[in-house]
Amino acid sequence: MPKKLLLEKLNKQMFACAQCALRKTCHQVVPGEGYAKAKIMFIGEGPGKKEDELGRPFVGSAGKFLDEMLAIIKLKRENIYIANVVKCRPPENRDPLPQEAVTCWPWLLEQIKIIQPKLIVTLGRHSMERFLPNHKISQMHGTLVIKTIPEIGKQNFYTLYHPAAALYNGSMRETLIQDFKKIPKVLKKIEREK
Ligand code: URA
Repeated sequence: MPKKLLLEKLNKQMFACAQCALRKTCHQVVPGEGYAKAKIMFIGEGPGKKEDELGRPFVGSAGKFLDEMLAIIKLKRENIYIANVVKCRPPENRDPLPQEAVTCWPWLLEQIKIIQPKLIVTLGRHSMERFLPNHKISQMHGTLVIKTIPEIGKQNFYTLYHPAAALYNGSMRETLIQDFKKIPKVLKKIEREK
């Protein structure tokens, strides 16, 4: 079955999920969106207020900043895939609880298995920790890590600060932009070495 249809089928299953309490307080499930055959998959933390309203990932202020950075490296949203660690908005934008992230993890794994991105770009500490636990984002940001994840196999990860955290923090913002600008080179390196 084409990847696009597999993702649509998966989305339907996610829409029906009520495995954790987040579904009781959010408006809707936000599975993610983008190109089913994307080479790059961005993974954030979880939907915020605007995302919960619109059912789309990264459409609030962090999303606008993400769009600005994508424009700098001439990447279009329709050529990438964007998802989150948890698909339902945590109340008051609190961090997802470890148990919520664990409960939602199989959905993210299925998305990755279908898309098979060459590069996963994690946005923020919570996203990084799902794949690279026991690492510090202050040390990991802007570096490419190759790791085997049992369910998905060998995978390339590139860690970034979260756009929402960096938005109003001058030095973190500059670091994030500089790290972001390296993405095309990182992808080229991966494609050359495969
Ligand atoms: N922050 C996230 O981590 N994900 C979104 O979708 C929006 C804001």
